[in-house]
This record gives sequence, structure tokens and C-alpha cells, in this order.
Amino acid sequence: TTNRTFTMIKPDAVADGNSGAILKLIEEAGFRIVALKKTLLTKERAGEFYAVHAERPFYNDLCNYMSSGPIYAAILEKENAVADFRTLIGATNPAQAAEGTIRKLFAKSIEANAVHGSDSDENAALEGSFYFSKTEQF
Ligand code: CMP
Repeated sequence: TTNRTFTMIKPDAVADGNSGAILKLIEEAGFRIVALKKTLLTKERAGEFYAVHAERPFYNDLCNYMSSGPIYAAILEKENAVADFRTLIGATNPAQAAEGTIRKLFAKSIEANAVHGSDSDENAALEGSFYFSKTEQF
């Protein structure tokens, strides 16, 4: 059945001019863009988004990084969206990402890893609603 996932194109990928190439790969893989916006997170708002990682050693750096420049946030729709999107982007650490994946192509480090992808249907819904109201989803 068709369902949704949520992604962010992160500050490094946006700054490098890779947003268009990444969105093209996403559409070519069969994802439909339900909602899309360019936005800049404050450090506090980045911390809210990643609250689940608050106790991790990389949390403070992650919040600084995610608020260091504009991102694209998007809701995506496809059959098996969450799992298929994680396959498309590859491992969190680009050194371990498979050939042809978005992180293999565009990520610089485990932190500046080009894109985010939700890890469950429940988190996809929560993360999507963090950025988009119902009337912004088509
Ligand atoms: P993301 O999938 O968006 O989820 C958490 C983010 O924290 C991750 O991508 C990376 O950008 C960042 N991060 C930095 N260091 C680590 C790490 N050691 N393990 C996991 N995520 C990390």
C-alpha cells in the first residue's frame, strides 16, 4: 500500500548546489512529492526535531550543523515509502553507503550526510507534521 516518508536535504547538500540533483533522484526512484519547502532552522528548532538524540554525544554538533544553513524539507509518497527511501539514501555513515545511493554520491561525513530519512511510519508522520500543515500537503 502507498504510504509516506519524510526527508530533509541538509545544509551541506543545499550549499553545494546538489538539491536539484537529489530531488531528481528521488522522483526517478518513484517517489511523489507531497510537500516541499526551503527553510532555515534555529538551533532550538533543530534540537526539537532531533530530540530523540538529545542524550547522544553528537547531539550539540548536530543541532549546530542543522541550523548552519537552509535545508529543504519534504514529504514523499510511494509504496513502501519508509523502507524504500532508506535504501535509496544508503547508510547513515557515507563510508558504509552502497554505490549509487544518495549518501554515497553526495554525503561528506557521518554528520554532513546530505539527507535525512524517517525510520518508521510513525516518525514519518510526526516529522512531516513538524514542518507542514495538512493544507500544505498535496
Ligand atoms: P539522520 O539520519 O538525520 O539522524 C541523526 C543524524 O545525526 C544523522 O543523520 C547524522 O547527520 C548525525 N550524526 C552525527 N554523528 C552521528 C553518529 N555517530 N551516529 C548517527 N548519526 C550521527
